[in-house]
This record gives sequence, C-alpha cells and structure tokens, in this order.
Amino acid sequence: MLTAIKETAQWLSTRTQIRPELAIVLGSGLGDLAREISVVDTFDYKDIPHFPISTVEGHHGRLLFGHLGGKAVMAMEGRFHYYEGYSMKEVTFPERVMYELGVKTLIVSNAAGGMNPQFHVGDIMLIRDHINFFPEHPLRGQNIPTGPRFPDMHEAYDHTLLKLAKDIAAEQGTPVQEGVYIGVSGPTFETPSEYIAYHRLGADAVGMSTVPEVIVARHCGIRCFGVSIITDLGGEGIAVEVSHEEVQEAANSVKEPLARLIKTFVERI
Ligand code: HPA
Repeated sequence: MLTAIKETAQWLSTRTQIRPELAIVLGSGLGDLAREISVVDTFDYKDIPHFPISTVEGHHGRLLFGHLGGKAVMAMEGRFHYYEGYSMKEVTFPERVMYELGVKTLIVSNAAGGMNPQFHVGDIMLIRDHINFFPEHPLRGQNIPTGPRFPDMHEAYDHTLLKLAKDIAAEQGTPVQEGVYIGVSGPTFETPSEYIAYHRLGADAVGMSTVPEVIVARHCGIRCFGVSIITDLGGEGIAVEVSHEEVQEAANSVKEPLARLIKTFVERI
C-alpha cells in the first residue's frame, strides 16, 4: 500500500512541475470550478499507476494540476465511491497521494439530500462536522504512520476555514447553510424512515462520499473544508422520489455562486 502510494506520487511529480499546496475534490456542483483553474497538466485516472477508475455518470476521472487564486493546486474531476465497489483503501488512495505530494489543505464537495426542515433544494451547506455511517472504516487495518492509530476527530472540518467561507459568502451575498453531513454507502437513496432516522441522529444532510476522504486526509494532517449542495429533500412529511438526473440538475443550479465562493476562498487561505 505504502509503496503504491509513493510510486504514484513519484510518477506524478516527475510529470508535472506543479507542487500543490491545496487539493480540491470536484464533486457534483463544483465541476465548473475546473474552468477557473489555469490547468498546466492533466492526467486521466486510467493512465496513473495504481489509481482506480471512476465509473459513475457525470464524473470525468481526471487529475488536474495548475493554479487557482494564486496557489498551486491539484483537483480531482471525479472521485471513487464505495458503492461503485471500491475498497475504502481505493476510495481514499488519492488523499494518501495528495499527502505525499505536499498538500496541506483539502476542499471537498458533494451533492447531498437535506433532512433539516430549514433546507431547500439548491442550498449550499458548509459542512461543520460529519457522522461516519459507512460499513467499513478507511483506517481499518495496519496503521499507515502519517498519523496515530487512534486519530482525534474533534475538528475534522477546520473551524478557521469554515469561518472564512462564511465571511466570504456574506460578502458575496451568497446565502449558505451550515450543518452536519452523514456519509452512507448507498447506492440506494434513503427511505423516508432512513431520512428521519439520520436527522434524529443529528445530521442535516446525507450523501455517499466525503467522509472516508476527510478521515484519511485528517490522518495525514491535512486540514479540511467541505461543502454540500442540497439536491433533494427527505424527512418528516416529505416523501418524494429522487433521481440521479434531478440531483445533477439541482447541483448545476448553484455552480456559479459556489465556484465564485471557492475561488475567493482559495485566494484567501
Ligand atoms: N442521499 C444520499 N446521497 C445523495 C442524496 C441523498 O438524498 N442526494 C444526493 N446524494
């Protein structure tokens, strides 16, 4: 595992001059941010040694290296989901490589179902904390010595970065929500009872990604910032059908203000 991580990092660093301090996982809704990046080098996942290949619709499967907001960045166009059949080690392999490449800050984005009754479709939710509801833990097994066996998680999402994002959103007149994200395996969307149960557990939004990536990034000492786009709603009294197309459409509707917010955010980090 460690050898593979180092080989991949080595392979990339001999093919790009960019030494990224920041990494961005471009989930649904943040795809447009790729256009703001002055891309210097692009690698298809299929060409990168040891990299898994993304299979889900609407995700490209490319790693970009370039500049954004005056910073050297790398960005993942498409991520690896547990529901696709990857192991947790595969899902979080890119974060291990990010660490080897010197990344200090990770920005993750996703589409999520809202359970908080104050939320609406198209809301931007800044992630304050998460609940790990995946059936397998990404750090299970031999400890990779980037962090301790029992890593602290009291501030998985950096409070300073969260405050910065809130300030920028206020300046730009972009309304944002703040909340707790619960990560589940999928691929089913939630039953009405599951939405209610997750809300009672303390979550405001539910999705099928992000949590493993953030856990591994934190284990590597990378500070994390996360954002969800609320693409559908569930919970008490709301029993609507969710489709992948609707999720994509809702994510598209906020991509502009979100890309603006993140660009300024990166400038000011
Ligand atoms: N549940 C889980 N994942 C999701 C949802 C949802 O309602 N919406 C977008 N991703």
